[in-house]
Amino acid sequence: MALTPMNAAKSGASKANGKASKRADAGAGPEAPSRANELRSAFLGFFADADHVVEPSAPLVPRHDPTLMFTNAGMVPFKNVFTGQEKPRALRAASSQKCVRAGGKHNDLDNVGYTARHHTFFEMLGNFSFGDYFKERAIELAWSFLTGVLALPEEKLLVTVYMDDDEAAELWKKISGFGDDKILRIAGSDNFWSMGDTGPCGPCSEIFYDHGAHLPGGPPGSPDQDGDRFVEIWNLVFMQYEQRDDGTRIDLPRPSIDTGMGLERIAAVMQGTHDNYEIDLFRRLIAASVDLTGVSAVGDEAPSHRIIADHLRASSFLIADGVLPSNEGRGYVLRRIMRRAMRHAHLLGAKDPLLHRLVPALVGEMGRAYPELQRGEKLIDETLKLEETRFRETLDRGLRLLDEAVEGLAAGDTLPGEIAFKLYDTYGFPYDLTEDALKAKGIGVDGSAFAAAMERQRAEARKSWSGSGEAATEGLWYELKEDLGATEFLGYEAETASGEIVALVKDGARVEKLEKGDRGIVIVNQTPFYAESGGQVGDRGTLTMADGTVFAVSDTQKKLHGLFLHDGVVEAGKLLRGETVALTVDHTRRTATRAHHSATHLLHEALRQVLGTHVAQKGSLVEPGRLRFDFSHPKPMTADEIKAVEDMANAMILQNGAVETHLMTPDEAIERGALALFGEKYGEEVRVVSMGVTPESEKAGHAYSIELCGGTHVRRTGDIGLLRIVGESAVAAGVRRVEALTGEAARSYLAAQDARVRQAADILKVTPDEMLQRLAAIVDERRKLDRELADLRKKVALGGGVAADGDDGKILSIGGTSYLPLRVSGLPNNDLKALADEAKAKVKSGVVAIANTAPDGKGGLVVGVTGDLTDRYNAVDLVRAGAAALGGKGGGGRPDLAQAGGPDGDKADAALDAIAASLEDAAPGKPAPSPSSSAGQS
Ligand code: ALA
Repeated sequence: MALTPMNAAKSGASKANGKASKRADAGAGPEAPSRANELRSAFLGFFADADHVVEPSAPLVPRHDPTLMFTNAGMVPFKNVFTGQEKPRALRAASSQKCVRAGGKHNDLDNVGYTARHHTFFEMLGNFSFGDYFKERAIELAWSFLTGVLALPEEKLLVTVYMDDDEAAELWKKISGFGDDKILRIAGSDNFWSMGDTGPCGPCSEIFYDHGAHLPGGPPGSPDQDGDRFVEIWNLVFMQYEQRDDGTRIDLPRPSIDTGMGLERIAAVMQGTHDNYEIDLFRRLIAASVDLTGVSAVGDEAPSHRIIADHLRASSFLIADGVLPSNEGRGYVLRRIMRRAMRHAHLLGAKDPLLHRLVPALVGEMGRAYPELQRGEKLIDETLKLEETRFRETLDRGLRLLDEAVEGLAAGDTLPGEIAFKLYDTYGFPYDLTEDALKAKGIGVDGSAFAAAMERQRAEARKSWSGSGEAATEGLWYELKEDLGATEFLGYEAETASGEIVALVKDGARVEKLEKGDRGIVIVNQTPFYAESGGQVGDRGTLTMADGTVFAVSDTQKKLHGLFLHDGVVEAGKLLRGETVALTVDHTRRTATRAHHSATHLLHEALRQVLGTHVAQKGSLVEPGRLRFDFSHPKPMTADEIKAVEDMANAMILQNGAVETHLMTPDEAIERGALALFGEKYGEEVRVVSMGVTPESEKAGHAYSIELCGGTHVRRTGDIGLLRIVGESAVAAGVRRVEALTGEAARSYLAAQDARVRQAADILKVTPDEMLQRLAAIVDERRKLDRELADLRKKVALGGGVAADGDDGKILSIGGTSYLPLRVSGLPNNDLKALADEAKAKVKSGVVAIANTAPDGKGGLVVGVTGDLTDRYNAVDLVRAGAAALGGKGGGGRPDLAQAGGPDGDKADAALDAIAASLEDAAPGKPAPSPSSSAGQS
């Protein structure tokens, strides 16, 4: 039946309308879009024309929905818009959303490969109304797109509505002209859609396509509805309710629309097949795997090719969105998908890792619509290759074990769970891979025995751990890690996310809530907060809730490799276990920390290049305001070395190259020249961070800096801004420490230095440029002045100058020997010897003695004997005689000049007298003085 003129006008599809009735057969007409890429564009274009804002696909990891493992429907990114928590950009939207259904409520993994329509990854085309249009317009738009733009024959379509939804049934009648025979009422869950156990939901109306009587299967609601003949192509959900986790269902603020049409299914319809794997996109992927394996895609091997093509898509898109294989959470689901595909590659006889070689075909098909695939191509390739290389190492042995184990078994039998566990534990076979391997033979697996074996292993680990002597308080973390598993870390990609509170800890014990003022620890199922490790400090930030609750996170720590603890205080409201919180990392702090971390890597390499490859990291601290790097090096760095290191690191910063992260085995990483911490225990896979390039590194085929590192880094080296070394010191024998600043910290440090230079120049009354010259002149002048001052002091001390005053009267004659005693004060004792020389010049032949009361009150004494008399008098003996009067002991020098001192500066006159007395004793006719102890001794 044709569109009524009214509908045609509203949908703007009257042009296409004429074609619809002519096309009685399945498949695309020459004008209608049929290829997957064309259909995606046609759908988005149609809804853009109908005033919808086209939104890009959200990531597969739903950062803002902690209840979901993966984005599994087009409406997921709009969940909070439906519930009224968030304002939409516009009231109408359309998207082509990447979806993964493997794990969680919607899980299709086990069926993929064996059916015509199951996928782990698919694209959902959808249009959305957020309280704008409702049932009528939604039905009109869908009808218009299918029969107008796609020109599908009406007789091939039929629809279902929810049992009591008379309104929808009437609207379908009006818009499509269908009779009751084509509008089927379905009871129960089939026509009531919900995104998960909680969230927006409502009755729905599904549009089916009849692929023709040559296929088995009955209409929806019939016992054989699951056959391939009638296929649901589009689901229109009349969003009306929100399902709460307490079991209640409340009305949404305004009735809304969510629709979903699987791109692969509609492409199949448009390409005249009921089998999604026959569409252009899959044909090309499968052709690539046929090409590389040399195994035909028809016959027994068909499922393997399909599984490879499907899983290649899921794995690649997940990796592009930041998921990496691991043994927990999302990473484990990815690993299961990858390994399932890899087993099938092996089944096809592929000798080398296969999946990564299919990536170019996938990027060629889908990279334009999803640029993240292009951006992530290298990482996808490396991650797939690494996983397949590692898995293949044990795959053969594992499969042999499996073959032996099923030898006596027949279809209908069950494989013992212990064997499935051994395959898991020793050979890395996920449980569902073992199931999949036996599926073709009709053999099942004893799942509960598998679970029991798993639990036994956990109990063993628990036991050995509790005997390992860890502090008792750590027991709590162990228990929590056991119960909750590892926290999903989203912080490489995101700084905000939502998480479900899975545990609260106060005063070392688990609690159900934290109230205002409480200090405690919050554990969520997923977090963007980086926990302290590898020298990088933990993130700070806030956990908040719509009701005004605020938990200020002052630190994030990690326990037992992956249990993230958010440590802080409830500033407002309260937190209950099970609630959802919005997690927001302090962006400024994180940005500054990233810069310091990346700078540490540049510094490390610069130190190695400037000082030598003996430089090895001994420790590091990366904070938002500074970095500290300890390394082995036997001696202090010279100023030139420090400058060379700083210059080299800054050259890399200015280069502004991308900072790249790769995943590989530790061996591979080290082979590539990555710097690892000696003695550090690394996991099976490591993150390798590389940045910068020099002609030498380019020649060697790698980046300037390559390090094993789990920290967060800048996107491009230019984001570091600037690096400034501000300290170099020793921390231990053979270990030096460099402290440095980057970015804003470096800038403000230099600004403060600059301000000081300006202040100094102001004081000197010159410009900063003239300052050095001025300072040199001042220092010169100062030296001159010092000299002049010393001379003047002497003159003052001698009452106007020894030689100048002509006062010979002070020269005494003792037993025929001239003796010139000089009494001075206020001179530094060091100046006395110079005075003695002058006095000696004045007496020409004789003995001089200068006694001083120094400014500190101590006495100083110098005795000089002119050269002609040193055989008669020893200056050392004489000075000792005088020193006794000053309360001093000893004295020393040469026979012609000796010096001594003593505490009693006020006894200077007595010292001079004592020397005079000694001279008298030594005068000719007196007994000769006792032989002097050797000169120069004191
Ligand atoms: N959200 C609906 C679905 O996934 C359209 O089927």
